[in-house]
Amino acid sequence: MSELAHTRAELAAARGRLTGRVGVVMTMGALHEGHEALIRAAREQADRVLVTIFVNPLQFGPGEDFDRYPRTIETDLEICRRAGADLVFAPSAAQMYPGGEPGVRVSPGPLGDDLEGSSRPGFFHGVLTVVLKLLHLTRPDLAFFGEKDFQQLALIRQMVADLDVPVEIVGVPTVREPDGLALSSRNRYLASDQRVAALSLSAALRAGAEAAEAGSDGGAVLAAAHRAFAAGDPATKLDYLVLTDPALEPGPVVGPARLLVAAWVGDVRLIDNAAIRLDPRP
Ligand code: PAF
Repeated sequence: MSELAHTRAELAAARGRLTGRVGVVMTMGALHEGHEALIRAAREQADRVLVTIFVNPLQFGPGEDFDRYPRTIETDLEICRRAGADLVFAPSAAQMYPGGEPGVRVSPGPLGDDLEGSSRPGFFHGVLTVVLKLLHLTRPDLAFFGEKDFQQLALIRQMVADLDVPVEIVGVPTVREPDGLALSSRNRYLASDQRVAALSLSAALRAGAEAAEAGSDGGAVLAAAHRAFAAGDPATKLDYLVLTDPALEPGPVVGPARLLVAAWVGDVRLIDNAAIRLDPRP
C-alpha cells in the first residue's frame, strides 16, 4: 500500500520514515505505462520510491491546457500502488506555492528558449522551478525522468549540475504503443482519427533512424524524416523536426545524435524523439 501525503508536513513525516536510497518520480498525474516504467526503474535502482503528482500551473502558458489537463487521482493512486510506490505526494497549489506564484524562478539559460521553449515561452522556467522545489521537499538520492521529454531531461541534468543539487538524474526510455505512438497523458485528448494522424511523429523518427542505419549523413536523415512526416495525415501540422547532438546542440553531427519532433494534431500538441547514430563516411 502506498502512503499518501497531501501537505508538506505529511510529506516531511512520511519521508523521514523512508530508509535506504530514495528514488523520486515526478508526474502531473494522468499516469500511464510510461509512468509505470519510471516507477519500475526507480524500484530497481532505489530502496524506496516516492511519486509526486502535481499539475504545475507555472509551466502552462496562457491559452494552454491547464484547466482541461486530465486529473485522475484515484486511478493514479491505484497505479502507484500497483507499481510499488512507497509514498505518493499529491499537494495542492497552495501547498506548493504558499506565497502565490513565486517571483524567483529557475532560469533555464539559452537551451530553454529553443525548441519547446520557443513554442512555449516560460515553460522551462515553470518546469525547472517546480522540479527544484520538489527535489528540496522530497530529498531523493535519485530522480527518474522520461526521455520522451528529452529537452526537459537535458535541462534538469544541467540544472542539478550547475546548481550543485545532490541528486542523481536517471533518464528512462520512452514507452510506445505497438504502432509506435509515444505514450503521453495528452494522447487522451485525441479522437480516434487524430490518434491515427499522430503516428506521423513516430513515423518521421523511424524513417530518420532507418536512413541513419543505412549510412545516410545528417542532411539525408533529416530529409527522410521530413518526407515520412509529410506523407502522413495533412491534419498534423509540424512545429519542428530537428537533428541535434545528444546535448541538443544543433548539427552537423557525427556519432550519437537525437532526432526531435513536435507537431499539432488538431489542438493537441505532441512531442517525440529518438536516438540515432550517424557514422562518419569512410
Ligand atoms: O514531465 C512532467 O510531467 C512535468 O514536466 C514534471 C517534470 C512533473 C514537472 O511538473
